[in-house]
Amino acid sequence: RERTFVMAKPDAVQRGLIGEIVSRIEERGLKLVGGKFMQIDDELARDHYGEHVDKPFFDDLTTFITSGPVFAMVWEGQDATRQVRQMMGETDPADAAPGTIRGDYALDLGRNVIHGSDHEDPGANEREIDLFFDEEELLDYERIDGEWLYE
Ligand code: GTP
Ligand code: MG
Repeated sequence: RERTFVMAKPDAVQRGLIGEIVSRIEERGLKLVGGKFMQIDDELARDHYGEHVDKPFFDDLTTFITSGPVFAMVWEGQDATRQVRQMMGETDPADAAPGTIRGDYALDLGRNVIHGSDHEDPGANEREIDLFFDEEELLDYERIDGEWLYE
């Protein structure tokens, strides 16, 4: 089963949406294996968003992501990375379908409430998990409904 990195961004924390985000992913059937309430520093922000370092919005992006606490998570399950990306919706909430997290809770590209590892970038999930979590912070256990979630 695949693991993926997810984060409730500072806007989600400030707007009281941590529970809603966790709830949706949890109810879908994915298993929470790690979680950390933390504030991202400049170095971590630059590492995490390194792929965007040359983009015009990079400074705004790192300023925003370091501006307040985030809730960082690791979720595990079948096809976890792609499934979470589908639940998140399009990057720009203006294009995100209703029923997706961004489509239901956000309006603006720079305040889109959730991050999830890019499923089109192989290895992004493992890289981001390593960046935010130590191995011993990821817990190994079975959800009691496991046999009802998978054939
Ligand atoms: P993340 O989960 O945050 O990585 O979003 P994403 O994977 O859906 O999008 P991407 O990695 O391409 O961009 C990272 C973040 O940069 C987005 O979540 C946006 O907040 C911001 N961003 C992306 N493109 C633009 C842009 O064209 N202009 C501005 N201002 N911000 C952008
Ligand atoms: Mg991205």
